[in-house]
Amino acid sequence: MKKADRIYYGGDYNPDQWDAKTIEKDMELFKKAGVNLVVLPVFSWAKLEPDEGEYHFEWLDEIIDKIWENGIHVCLATPTTAQPAWLSARYPEVLPVDVAGRKRTHGMRVYFCVNSLKYRERAAAIAREMAKRYAHHPALAAWHVANEYGTPCYCPTCQAKFRLWLKKRYKTVEELNRRWYTSFWGRVVGSFEEVMLPTELNDDYRFYPAVQLDYMRFLTDSTAECFENEASVLREYNPEIPVMTNMSGYIKKLNQGVMAEHLDMVGWDNYPSPLDPPYFVAMKHEIMRGLKHGQSYWLTEQSPNQQNWQPYNKLKRPGEVRQLSYQAIAHGADTCLFFQMRQSIAGQEKFHGALISHAGHENTRIFRELTKLGEELSGLGNKTLEGRIRAKAAILFDWENWWALELSSGPTKDMDYLKTVSRYYQAFFEQNLPVDIVRLDADLDAYDLVAAPMLYMMKEGVYEKLEAFVKRGGTLIATVMSGLVDENDRCVFGEYPGLLKEMFGIWVEETDALFPEEKNQILLKGDWLGKDSKDAYECGLLCDRIHVRTAKELAVYGKDFYQGEPCVTRNDYGSGTAYYIGTEPAPDFLEDFIGLACREKGIAPLYPAGKGVEITNRVSKEASVVFAINHALEESWVDFGEETLTDLLKGGQVSGRVAVKPRDVLVLERRRKSE
Ligand code: GLA
Ligand code: ZN
Repeated sequence: MKKADRIYYGGDYNPDQWDAKTIEKDMELFKKAGVNLVVLPVFSWAKLEPDEGEYHFEWLDEIIDKIWENGIHVCLATPTTAQPAWLSARYPEVLPVDVAGRKRTHGMRVYFCVNSLKYRERAAAIAREMAKRYAHHPALAAWHVANEYGTPCYCPTCQAKFRLWLKKRYKTVEELNRRWYTSFWGRVVGSFEEVMLPTELNDDYRFYPAVQLDYMRFLTDSTAECFENEASVLREYNPEIPVMTNMSGYIKKLNQGVMAEHLDMVGWDNYPSPLDPPYFVAMKHEIMRGLKHGQSYWLTEQSPNQQNWQPYNKLKRPGEVRQLSYQAIAHGADTCLFFQMRQSIAGQEKFHGALISHAGHENTRIFRELTKLGEELSGLGNKTLEGRIRAKAAILFDWENWWALELSSGPTKDMDYLKTVSRYYQAFFEQNLPVDIVRLDADLDAYDLVAAPMLYMMKEGVYEKLEAFVKRGGTLIATVMSGLVDENDRCVFGEYPGLLKEMFGIWVEETDALFPEEKNQILLKGDWLGKDSKDAYECGLLCDRIHVRTAKELAVYGKDFYQGEPCVTRNDYGSGTAYYIGTEPAPDFLEDFIGLACREKGIAPLYPAGKGVEITNRVSKEASVVFAINHALEESWVDFGEETLTDLLKGGQVSGRVAVKPRDVLVLERRRKSE
């Protein structure tokens, strides 16, 4: 695979919106800003193929050559996210049908049926034209297929394909009925032809979880096929060029774990809300890094300044874009790309930030900030590339579990998987305890501690893996709403939490749902949580009524009819430990609890640091690089003790206690043990 020798810096560029003079100027400004890669032509299908089979690539040839003459690489996008008007008009089947059965009209992007054969035929054809022309162009760094997939479709083609998909999965209609448990409400089907797409939705999008789950799996598989339809063509012409798509972040509607299996590297677009706390943004990076088991990824988009599509589009504060860029790199990004290089004159995104704003020149705050960042990143050379993070703790995260948990009607409508996972992640993050977020099929051999918040769906093989992990000495943390259903959302028969009950030494009789403003308490029994811990912590959302068998009660509820009953337990199992938390604790409990569980396994923060400072360490063959980012708005610090590290941004050596200014970043190289 073709590899970069430094961080790719740049982003989306739409030259078809600009005249020759402007493009000339752009080249000059790109070089000034340190841009070394642009992504194009994401939205140019209509210009490249103005009528079926009639291609006009000369203008693009010229632009790519010009970009390359200026020493800038290209990541070439197949322009298939926005099909030309003639395609929608001539073959209306390419347009999607929404969940309410409405045929959508032409005009948006990602507005096609991923299963449409006509769409796929034309998309593969233009991908082939591009591959023929550019697969060996020296400027080509990577292929980028379409843009932010994720449009569901309920058209007749999808209906027919869904039935075939089910037939392949379940073989017989009897098996389908059994797995979908259609005896409930008499939803039995006599043949696959009687299966309907889940379009009859209640206001809260809860229809029939088993059907919806399979539809979401089907949509993911169909989207992955649609990606492969183009990717396989591109690979044919030059297998050395990596192929990816830019995923719309950590979105729920597509199982990005399945998508990632088709990509040579994960690419994702990071658009945090200004209200997102730093741990939440960090968590999304961890999730995306976990998709390919820790392999570094492409940050394919972020905004250099304000966006246009949030309800309130704050300007990025001075230093913020640098802070977010380094946060991405600190978590595993090998690129720092933006949407967009030049701000469009009109359209929905005319007020979206860009390297070159409507002002048209370099005398802007953002241009200056990005130029400085470009210089810094170029100075890092290849030191950070392909660096891996070596954590001893992991949090399990699974898309199908996310779907199933939130499709469930009851016990509370407030179950929010991402939020729950983020609370556990936050407890690690705030203490700089290194943690990966891993897929359910990840190998747990490298880990000593695994947290599995709300692992509601117990898929085949998962229990066995978790059990082996605990038996060999690992610490496993499970919570309320775990182990309850199989992959078709059928509840375990017998006591909750199903297969987990022996390992955790408990059984759960029932689960109470609390009103949003209602709280209970976690009252500690003894001082197992450390001398400095509180005696009582708050909890809410859900409260399991737990019976202990072999487990030890660590804490009990403070209120309600189940006052005094256990809510946190510990069971020694094999050579390991299984902690169960039967409720949703307040962050201070989780911080203390995760702190303890990590201490027990010898998992420590990388370095002592003050409030707001996030620290990570990426290690590659080339270097071991430490990042320290101050997310606080006051000065903070890190203490490197006796260790001496090289400052890769400012030069020189650092050791001992080092101050970090608000939003500032340290990028330091550690010495290898042998040096
Ligand atoms: C997405 C798209 C881009 C652009 C940005 C705007 O991530 O991929 O084309 O629309 O949003 O924030
Ligand atoms: Zn369709």
